[in-house]
Amino acid sequence: MQWWREAVVYRVYVRSFTDSDGDGIGDLEGIRARLGYLELLGVDALSLAPFYPSPMADHGYDVADPRDVDPVYGDLAVFDALVTDAHEHGLKIIVDLVPNHTSVEHEWFRAARTSKPGSPERERFHFRPGRGPGGQEPPNDWQSVFGGPAWTRLPDDPEWYLHLFSPAQPDLDWTNPEVWADLDKTVRFWLDRGVDGFRVDVAHGMSKPEGLPDAGGCRDDPRFDHEGVHDVHRMVRAVVDHFPGTVLVGQVDVRDDDAFARYVRPDELHVGLTYRLLECPFAADAVRDAIEDSFEAVAPTRSRPSWALADHDTVRPVTRWGGEARARAMALVTLALPGTVFLYNGEELGLPDVELPDEALQDPRWTQSGGTDRGRDGCRVPIPWEGTAPGFGFTSGEPWLPIPAQWADRLVADQLEDTASTLSVYRRALELRRCHPGFTGTDVEWFGAPQDCLAFRRSGSTLVCALNTGTVAVPLPPGDVLLSSGPLRGGLLPPDTAVWLA
Ligand code: GLC
Repeated sequence: MQWWREAVVYRVYVRSFTDSDGDGIGDLEGIRARLGYLELLGVDALSLAPFYPSPMADHGYDVADPRDVDPVYGDLAVFDALVTDAHEHGLKIIVDLVPNHTSVEHEWFRAARTSKPGSPERERFHFRPGRGPGGQEPPNDWQSVFGGPAWTRLPDDPEWYLHLFSPAQPDLDWTNPEVWADLDKTVRFWLDRGVDGFRVDVAHGMSKPEGLPDAGGCRDDPRFDHEGVHDVHRMVRAVVDHFPGTVLVGQVDVRDDDAFARYVRPDELHVGLTYRLLECPFAADAVRDAIEDSFEAVAPTRSRPSWALADHDTVRPVTRWGGEARARAMALVTLALPGTVFLYNGEELGLPDVELPDEALQDPRWTQSGGTDRGRDGCRVPIPWEGTAPGFGFTSGEPWLPIPAQWADRLVADQLEDTASTLSVYRRALELRRCHPGFTGTDVEWFGAPQDCLAFRRSGSTLVCALNTGTVAVPLPPGDVLLSSGPLRGGLLPPDTAVWLA
């Protein structure tokens, strides 16, 4: 039962979705209260960002215990209730696995910190002596993804430890069998609680090149995409295969098609998340290239492409592409495609990124870059549900990131009532994708289209999707209009608009 092959998965940034207890931070009970909304929206599954115990240096991607729930988000009983209720609403639940690193507050790292160099406690991580006089220099020249060196030295200690992300996220050493055994335990723990799948964070991480060579002397980025990582995916897949109907999704930030295809071989991930549409400009040629590339990347495998316009790490589409009309048009393109589609909470409301004041910023990228990179908080501002400022039904307290007062015109409650809203376009699109017979075929066929436009249909089907990224209206392709992302006039497809025809 490969339910994910055409599924629409809704990514919930738990912290920002709904707060049930007034502390200003979203929680699992809050998600439970919104299952009716998600069913109405018409998605098939939820993918929850990490809710595990964490000091929240990277908002939960620094995991202190992968087999529990942080009290700020609830507890295991609430999690179990969420799984049961979600299933009753016909929604699957996917949870995150974060195998590349832990938190400095994980019991393993706490033990490593107080143990001696060379001790078994340190061998679960990458501890190395520094270079230069007195070991003052990091062991190699690697940079952290968040800025600055990828190494931190413990106080009064000869050794440094490796962290590809923030210093609060020490990388695990995947040559250590204990690290494998622990992930196996975590996977089984959540499967036994009834989850329907996992999103593997940094799925191209984990394995490191022998001897940790300087990046300066390497042809490729030595930090990521090593052969050994595929063994980790095979191990998890072998467990998951004992639980039919469970999906393994991976965040595969690897641009080379051949390298990408290796992650979705039949015994590894079912679905690889791609970044091609997320990074694509709003231009018909570029969009077509991104779609074709995504198909090519999985062509040698039995996997299918996946699509996303937004996630919790990227500037929201409305801001990135310069307007809600464009984001809506791209949503229709994406939802017409065969394969798994990932939506990110708030995308369906046409939310833009928020320019937050310096003092509100919380992403470690802000501090680690020395204030040159404002980080990802702008796309993580809580969802405006209903009512009036400042909580907008997200919280009865003070939201962890301020919700702009102007979002009074973005409310879920109002958009549900307004047939012309972005939310209504998403609802209608999801309904058609689920019920219309035109959504068959595993490939796309391209039609000739005027300049700055594209048109395709799903192979073997009559459903046509056309997009106009230019500045002048063009004639609509033949067919009956099923749905358009914006108003149509006089048989023309206006700029910044997409349409479905049958
Ligand atoms: C992934 C997550 C990102 C997180 C990072 C480190 O890229 O999407 O949010 O900061 O991993 O875990």
